[in-house]
Amino acid sequence: MRLLAISGSLRRLSYNSALLDAAAEYGRGVDFVAWSGLDTIPAYSEDLDEAPPAVALLKDEIAKADGILVATPEYNASVPGALKNALDWVSRPFAANPLRGKRVAVIGASQGAFGAAWAQAELRKILQTIGAHVEERGLLLAHAQHAFTPDGRLRDPDAAAALAAIVESLVQHTARRAA
Ligand code: FNR
Repeated sequence: MRLLAISGSLRRLSYNSALLDAAAEYGRGVDFVAWSGLDTIPAYSEDLDEAPPAVALLKDEIAKADGILVATPEYNASVPGALKNALDWVSRPFAANPLRGKRVAVIGASQGAFGAAWAQAELRKILQTIGAHVEERGLLLAHAQHAFTPDGRLRDPDAAAALAAIVESLVQHTARRAA
């Protein structure tokens, strides 16, 4: 069982990346692979015939994964441009894109009160448009600057339980698909 973790933030001390690290604790027996190549993806152009190597690597990681967990920040009420750009690359060619039929869970963290709710809604729409199966469960982690213990765990037991349930659901669904 291989789960690919994608953070939509390039920030070194990103709360969304921290949320993925916390999630990795719950995937017992799961090969949790964090993809960290977001800053290597060039701007998408339809004029480029072939995907650049960095994009090919991402597509390969997605193809190899049984399921995907994406944590998105919210930038100006939407998905960060770098994440959207990477997904635009992955979506082409549309019929054979590696997200098609892939089970994906969306979570997100913000320092405000809404936990990247708009960005998560937009990311769900984007992923569904590309052809992924998006998990119903999500996690809106608000006030992320106060949400983690020094060793990277979630302080709020309800948030921790919700995160564990998301990983569990992803594992269950992808196991069922693999069976
Ligand atoms: C933000 N932030 C933000 N937060 C929010 O709740 N709604 C928003 O629309 C925005 N817009 C926004 C735009 C830009 C350009 C930046 C840089 C930031 C704040 C953002 O949620 C906060 O910085 C998070 O901590 C970013 O996530 P990471 O990097 O910690 O994962």
